Amino acid sequence: MDNNAERNNKVPFDEDNYTHNIHKNNERELDRRGFLKTMVGAAGVFAVSTLPWGGLAAKELLGFGSRSHPRKKIADKSALKIGDAVEFHYPGEHESALLVRLGEHEYKAYKNACTHLKCPVFWSREEDQMVCPCHHGYFDVRTGKPTAGPPRRALPEIVIEWDGSAIYATGVKRYET
Ligand code: FES
Repeated sequence: MDNNAERNNKVPFDEDNYTHNIHKNNERELDRRGFLKTMVGAAGVFAVSTLPWGGLAAKELLGFGSRSHPRKKIADKSALKIGDAVEFHYPGEHESALLVRLGEHEYKAYKNACTHLKCPVFWSREEDQMVCPCHHGYFDVRTGKPTAGPPRRALPEIVIEWDGSAIYATGVKRYET
């Protein structure tokens, strides 16, 4: 019998056994630990990378904060006496809104679709409130918050600014009071 035949018929020596360094239990533990580390790392990366966007998305979904729109002239100041209101459309051509002059330098504007079932809300100078005639809904003209009737959400406030001669709409504060 030659040397090769003799070697092939033998159980390998310990030092030739390439499986001698495998410890299955330990390897499984390392796998589990490695997997957990990877998951924690991935979760961390995900949290950090999405945090600002998640905040913005939540803000957007919940309707807080304001959104700017192109500046649009609402009315000349001289056309509006204290206690008067004027209807306009903002930000879209089909979105009705109301500007009320409450004082010499005090103006408030809201989208005037009722937050109950979208009926148009009017300014009542006599009652000093915004009124929805459909189901007797009332809104505080200084905050837009509902004060009576079925509406539960505030009227979306229009961001306004004015100069010496006119009042302008520049954005919409949604559900914010
Ligand atoms: S639609 Fe305004 S109170 Fe119902």
